[in-house]
Amino acid sequence: MKPEDARFIKAIIFVNSLVPLALLAWDAAHKNLGANPLEYVTRTTGMLTLIFLMLSLAVTPLRKMTGWNWLGMNRRVLGLYAFFYGSLHFLTYIWFDRFFNFKSAVGDVVQRPFIAVGFASFLIMIPLAITSTNKMVKRLGGKRWNRLHKAVYVAGILGALHYWMLVKSDTRLPLTFAAVLAVLLGYRIFSANRTTKTQTRPTIIPR
Ligand code: HEM
Repeated sequence: MKPEDARFIKAIIFVNSLVPLALLAWDAAHKNLGANPLEYVTRTTGMLTLIFLMLSLAVTPLRKMTGWNWLGMNRRVLGLYAFFYGSLHFLTYIWFDRFFNFKSAVGDVVQRPFIAVGFASFLIMIPLAITSTNKMVKRLGGKRWNRLHKAVYVAGILGALHYWMLVKSDTRLPLTFAAVLAVLLGYRIFSANRTTKTQTRPTIIPR
């Protein structure tokens, strides 16, 4: 693929990722957020956080399986959108649910374990977003950066767990997210094992 085509796809992904926010803002402006607007916005932003986290985790397996290397350049933007929607999710909670009463938020974290799990997932995403720039990759060095960014797997697991914990009856959707996550992480374990095996195999030098 030509670099300008890859850049065009990146721009399409960037703009389209804002569409859910635009729709939410449109609904808010038209007072169309249902009987419980707080719940509506919290749930929508939470769902978007998880979806973008999954999309960013899907990039590497898809790139490796299809050989579409241009996919790789979209991983960062998808991850940053996960953080962006996660920040909106947190802001909705702390503003409209807790009215910036941080003491009450801490109490909630202690009383409702699903809040603590969601919070942990969000906290993990903060250093990942901060170190997502090229400058930070250079500053940390590739190896250290890669090691740090493996924390995104933990953020994904905690995000899916948070969702599963808060759903009271129909757990089909949270379990679907958990299954997709298991496939995405399982692929990584499988391909890491295969690489190690290939690397440790003795080299046969042809005579
Ligand atoms: C910053 C810390 C977080 C807090 C305080 C928080 C809090 C909440 C609350 C109060 C709800 C609504 C529960 C209900 O209506 O019964 C919710 C829903 C949700 N949150 Fe979070 N959350 C946090 C982080 C996250 C993160 C990091 C993710 C994803 C990785 C996430 C994904 C979700 C999902 C998927 C839902 C449910 C959406 C639905 O019902 O359709 N949350 N969260």
